Amino acid sequence: MNTPRFAHVPVLLAEVLEGLRVQADGSYLDGTFGRGGHAREVLARLGPEGRLLLMDRDPEAIADARREFEGDARVRIRHANFAEMGEWQEAAAGLDGVLLDLGVSSPQLDDATRGFSFQADGPLDMRMDPTRGVSAADWLANADEREIADVLWRHGEERMSRRIARAIVERVREQPLRTTRELAELVARTIGHRERHKHPATRTFQALRIHVNDEAGSLQRGLEAARDCLKPGGRLAVISFHSLEDRVVKQFIRGEVARAPRRGLPLPEVAAPALVAVGKPYFAAEAELAVNPRARSAVLRIAQKVGGDHAAGAHR
Ligand SMILES: C[S@@+](CC[C@H](N)C(=O)[O-])C[C@H]1O[C@@H](n2cnc3c(N)ncnc32)[C@H](O)[C@@H]1O
Repeated sequence: MNTPRFAHVPVLLAEVLEGLRVQADGSYLDGTFGRGGHAREVLARLGPEGRLLLMDRDPEAIADARREFEGDARVRIRHANFAEMGEWQEAAAGLDGVLLDLGVSSPQLDDATRGFSFQADGPLDMRMDPTRGVSAADWLANADEREIADVLWRHGEERMSRRIARAIVERVREQPLRTTRELAELVARTIGHRERHKHPATRTFQALRIHVNDEAGSLQRGLEAARDCLKPGGRLAVISFHSLEDRVVKQFIRGEVARAPRRGLPLPEVAAPALVAVGKPYFAAEAELAVNPRARSAVLRIAQKVGGDHAAGAHR
């Protein structure tokens, strides 16, 4: 068998499969196909009546999905943001399970030409879908200092956000930032090595990636779309890789609106919750961490759409 040039080891696989409670004749959607680590195992549990809908915004991931699954009558494949799953007739018709395994895949990180990694030199791009939107280099070339600082703070919790933003703007005025190495070195020179075991540009790269791909907006819209597409009793499984993302998922499942009540105004009507959390959040066990260090920051949350025959609590 050929070893793929860029492989991806699925995170919390057993927990995802258990959480989704895959039924042989059910309809499932994997909104983040990646290299199919989760999708392949869901498909293995489906009978001829089952359906698996696959999405990814990365054309390379979708090309891989087509190569492997195109001939399988149970599988449908779409190159799109999972935020748009509701526009897909087969998803809107009702799903028994939705998986969102957020962030970037190992193939995206390992391929220097995609521009995600500060460890390898490549063009400063960072788009999961390079066919649309604006690359990190182009955004930095046109953004002002305040905008850059705001992104670094909001999406990277970077305490030195203002200092880094000033250095970027000064540098870009002289000469464009074109490569990942140029940016990584600029950040390292500007703030020095403050955190042990962490490259100084880690937070900057995370923040720019989240901004360039509108990951926060996609997540919010994707969660709403998943909630709407799920049948009563259907399951949602979301894996996050940093605390900002996990907080959004947790609040969404609880039906919390991130808004403080304002004095003098009537309290907003509280809608009946659409989802109920199933069990506690899952983290990778030592055995998984030993073979897949990427799982270290992963958090899996499972929720069930209210209604239907199954009681959420009965699962665990
Ligand atoms: C962590 S990987 C998924 C890995 C996959 N579960 C596997 O086991 O191979 C995340 C994937 O989701 C895709 N992705 C991230 N955000 C997305 C979005 N909003 N819509 C569609 N795909 C997205 C990325 O392009 C990437 O391929």
